Amino acid sequence: MQTGRPSATAMAVAHSRAYHQLADEPRVFTDPFAVRILGESVLAETEFDHGLDPDLVRQRRLFINARSRFADDTVAAAISRGTDQVVILGAGLDTTAYRHGSAKARIFEVDHPATQEWKRRRLSGARMAIPNSLTFVPVDFENTTLAAGLARAGLDSNRSAVYVWLGVAVYLTRASVDETLRYIASHAKSEVVFDYFYPVAASPDDLTAAQVQARADRVAAAGEPWLTFFTAEEIRDILQDFGYSHVDDRSAIELLTSYGVPVGSRVTDSGPHLVYACTA
Ligand SMILES: C[S@@+](CC[C@H](N)C(=O)[O-])C[C@H]1O[C@@H](n2cnc3c(N)ncnc32)[C@H](O)[C@@H]1O
Repeated sequence: MQTGRPSATAMAVAHSRAYHQLADEPRVFTDPFAVRILGESVLAETEFDHGLDPDLVRQRRLFINARSRFADDTVAAAISRGTDQVVILGAGLDTTAYRHGSAKARIFEVDHPATQEWKRRRLSGARMAIPNSLTFVPVDFENTTLAAGLARAGLDSNRSAVYVWLGVAVYLTRASVDETLRYIASHAKSEVVFDYFYPVAASPDDLTAAQVQARADRVAAAGEPWLTFFTAEEIRDILQDFGYSHVDDRSAIELLTSYGVPVGSRVTDSGPHLVYACTA
């Protein structure tokens, strides 16, 4: 991230969720606050998608919405089982706190201080009052420990918690990714939903890989380079080493198919994957 500046990619994914509410078929994720919090022209193209293959842009947008749907369902299931602590890591313009606001759960939004400050200004501009259940926790994953930030904010590590960590791991160093996953696993009962990226295929003949690389170059130029990649085998080994007893990993294609999104004949492990893991 660029020093003192909010995340540009947070804006881009918020745009994907808002656009999805108005223009995608099928709708895999419903967020009544997505358009309001964006506060800008929803149907315009984003700076990162300009000129890229519209099918790939659409598929990426559907993945962003499908991962939020999956996280939402996970949060709702955890709350219904009695979990009353929800932690959104690298929250950006996520609106979980508004969608689950009436549930008896505390929501902690952890984000880079510059992004969080910007979000609070946007909420105020959109006249979205901050729910009583929401606590903001400014943390730079590269400089501050999550443990210290969340302890200060009042998270009780002896009680169960569900963590949502979407669209963030790829922007962090491997050390920060490990530290975050280790921290979550150190609690008695925790669940996490997060996504990670496969290494971008090297072959210049692969059109999809070239488009993915073009997007990676654009976000890097905006100060948010992709830093950390995994394969499914690597992530499973890491999670098991850290003490997660259950790991469910699905590729973007598998996730989209599970929500009834037609994906054609493409079967690939590359691109983003979504993981659900828990410690008990
Ligand atoms: C692509 S956005 C995803 C936002 C949100 N999770 C969503 O799905 O809408 C990346 C998020 O990671 C956060 N982030 C990136 N680097 C960070 C760091 N070093 N410390 C804390 N947050 C960071 C950004 O502030 C931003 O909110």
